[in-house]
Formats: sequence, structure tokens, C-alpha cells
Amino acid sequence: MYRHKYHILPPEGWLNDPNGSCYFNGKYHVFFQYSPGQPEGGDKYWGHYESVDMINWKYVGIAISPDMEYDCDGAYSGCAYVDDGVMELFYTGNVKHPGNYDYINEGRGHNVLALKSIDGSHMSDKDVILINADYPSDMSCHVRDPKVWREGNGYFMLLGARTRDSKPALLLYKSQDKKNWKLEQTVYADEKLGYMLECPDYFTLEDNIVVAACPQGMSHEDMRFQNIYESGYFTMTESEMNDFYSSNNISEISLSDRGEFLNELLQVKYFTEWDMGFDFYAPQSFEAADGRRILIGWAGVPDAPYNNDASVAEGWQHSMTVPGELDVKDGHVYRYPIRELADLHINERRFEVESDRVIHTTSEAYDIRITEIGASESATVYINQDVSLTYNRDMKVCTLSFHNNTGAGRGSRKADMSMLPGGGVLENIRILFDQSLLEIYINDGETVFTSRYYPKRHDDMTIRFEGMAAEAVYWDMKEAIS
Ligand code: FRU
Repeated sequence: MYRHKYHILPPEGWLNDPNGSCYFNGKYHVFFQYSPGQPEGGDKYWGHYESVDMINWKYVGIAISPDMEYDCDGAYSGCAYVDDGVMELFYTGNVKHPGNYDYINEGRGHNVLALKSIDGSHMSDKDVILINADYPSDMSCHVRDPKVWREGNGYFMLLGARTRDSKPALLLYKSQDKKNWKLEQTVYADEKLGYMLECPDYFTLEDNIVVAACPQGMSHEDMRFQNIYESGYFTMTESEMNDFYSSNNISEISLSDRGEFLNELLQVKYFTEWDMGFDFYAPQSFEAADGRRILIGWAGVPDAPYNNDASVAEGWQHSMTVPGELDVKDGHVYRYPIRELADLHINERRFEVESDRVIHTTSEAYDIRITEIGASESATVYINQDVSLTYNRDMKVCTLSFHNNTGAGRGSRKADMSMLPGGGVLENIRILFDQSLLEIYINDGETVFTSRYYPKRHDDMTIRFEGMAAEAVYWDMKEAIS
């Protein structure tokens, strides 16, 4: 009853982070942290989905198994780098040595391993690239999740890290051949980011250098950092960038300035969360065939105080967001469902929204776009009696709330829109619903809320509007996962 129709999910068992996402030889690949047969998590493999259009996804099997001394307790997260017609995968091999260890500072092997594929399905033997002894001596045993990219005539790798005294950091390595890696810089992040950064990403968006990471241990605030662990990106606005140039007497960031720049960048003041909902973590970006930067996130969070028991009862847990296109305005990254998603639309219905307007649907999977919104002081969209998204015009705040226990422990999450490029005005809302997953995109992806939602029934669903006038288009969604 809760399995999705158009979001990547495990065939059965558990899924967490997307891994190795890339476009290679005419196909899109999304690997994922996978515990087959263990819907509550367990041994970590890489599962593998493929697609020719980023919309219709086919599960093609297990790509990496934790089957050697350097990864025997988990083929953890990592990335793909496509070079010269070869797909190269870099990931963390997790090893837990038996004994009485804390597994933070002692007892754990955390190795970077690599393998190659020339056809996207058969994998080479694994190469061991970095082991514990290769990391700086002030690092704990939590160094992981390699992200590799090329710049100039060399390659860079970023790893997420926790220092031995529990401070957040990233390690920047450099290589000429992707086999021998030399530490370029330990980037100590702002201590307000907690004790650990995991799942780093690095890319450019127009002229902006964007570093993404997942900080663990931040202090929660009323309208920021509301989940147990956060997921977001660091980037500078044009004027912050100019300040950095002038204080360093440079006119661009050369490769040799890379580490210095990261040292400045990894501060809370440059950090924005990707998503304000309950279920978003460890996203990965990749470049589409036509150059667009695409982001897919895990629609889940580790160690969350709320649950997905209803999905576990069906033998599976967790899924991915739809692929989102990224765009940047004034140093703020917008994330919006890829335009290809329109290929899944059927049964279009258009209507005018006015207060107390109710739309009925019997579909378990839909997409509704609400535009040209004129909002009263307080405007709300209700999904059944279960979910409300309320916009407070004076406060410039959006609040997502679950009622009737349909959030399985999820309560409310808020997003402060006042400092965003749109100035806090609500212009449009897009709601993707898929059996037990909601993705709500506000103002073309300026703010996003991703959350699991467990309606008691699907055969009579309502969408009700209060305090607003708008135009709306509704579509049912075709099935796209096989
Ligand atoms: C993030 C994470 C990664 C790790 C993986 C293990 O959710 O903890 O840091 O590589 O999951 O499944």
C-alpha cells in the first residue's frame, strides 16, 4: 500500500544514501546503500538502478558486496567518476575489528576502495586506495564517503571526517593518476557544525563553487537545523566572494588556493539546508547529458526519532527523492523536479483555487502545481485531514505539520523564507505525492519539504485550500519503477 510508483526504492529491504550517481554510456546510474532482506538496516551493499531518461528506473542488481578484508563490515557510500569511457567508483570500506572498542577513535578500519567498469554493470577487482594510516593522526576512525572530481590537470578527493576530539572536518586529497593520493589540506570546519561532516559533494553551478555535506551534532533552532542530522551546502554570494578575493589579494581561486578557500567556506554563515522536511539526507549531484546539475537525495535521515513502521511491515524502508535540477540565484541554490517528470503525467485537470475549494482524487501518486498564488494573511493547503502546509504572510514562514498520527512521529517543521531571494512572498507550490512520500516545492524550489506520510487510505484523498486564490493543475502519475 505504501510502495512508491515513481520514486527509487529498494526491491525489498533497506535503502539509504544514493551512491555513484552518474551519466555513463547513454544511461543514468544511481547506486544506493542497500541492506537486502533487512528492512531495518544491516549489512551495507551497493544496489544499482539504471535509466535512460532519469524518470523510468530499472533495478539491475547488487553492484558491490562487502566481501573482502578491507570492506567486510560494509561497502559504505561513495561516488562515481567517469573518465575516458570508464566508470570508476570510489567508496568507503568499513571494517569493525572484534574487541572492546568505542569504534569512534579505535577499532574501525575506514578505507577508500576503488573499482572500474567499462560497461556499467560488470565491476573490476577492488583496489585499496587509502587506509587508516594514510589519514592525518588527529582523525578519528570516522573518515568516509569519497567525492572525486577533476580540475586542471589533476584529481581531487574530499572525504568527510570527525577529528579525534570530535570536531567536524573534511580532508582534501590530490592525485595525478587516481591511485596515489596525497593530503592537500585538512579543512577544519566551523565547530558550530557539530562533531562530524559526512557525505561531501563538490561542484560548480554557474560561477559558484558549492560544497555540500551532512553535519552531525548541530544545535537545533526554531526554524533551522530541526532534524537530528542536517544536510546542506556551503556557497558564497558574489559580494562574499569579492570580500574573500580582496582580503586574500587574489582575483580568482586558483587550484593552489583551493584548501584556503575551503577553510573559509566551511562556516555556518555560508551553510544552507537543502530541505526543510523530516526526511532528507546524504544527497549526491551529477551532470546530466545536457550539462544540467542534478541532485538526488535519500528521503530519510539516520537515527530519526520518528519511524516508518508501516513500510517496514511491508518488508522495505526508505526511498530517494525525484531527481532535482539545480539552479542558483544570489548564492541560493534552487532545486526543482527535472522537467522530464512531465512524461509521467496523465489525466490532467485544471482548476481555479479559491478559499475552501476541495479537490478529490483516488490516485496514490499525483503531481499538483499551484501558481499565481494570492494569499491572505494565513493560507493553508491541507492534504486529507492529515497534512497542512501553512504560509504566514507577515512572518514569511511556511510550516508543514502532520496530524492524526499519519506522520508516524513527525510533528511540525518550519522554513523562514524572509531572507531568501523571493523576499518571503509565496508565489507557487508544487506537491509530489507518491503513496507514502511527499515532496513539496515552494517558489520553484527556493524551499523544499521532503517527508514520509502514511495516509490511512488512498481511495478518497482530498486537497483543500484555505486563504488563497490561485491557478492549479493536477496530474496522476504513471508507474516508473521496475
Ligand atoms: C550516511 C552514512 C554515510 C555512510 C553510509 C553507511 O547516511 O552514514 O556516512 O557511508 O551512511 O550506510
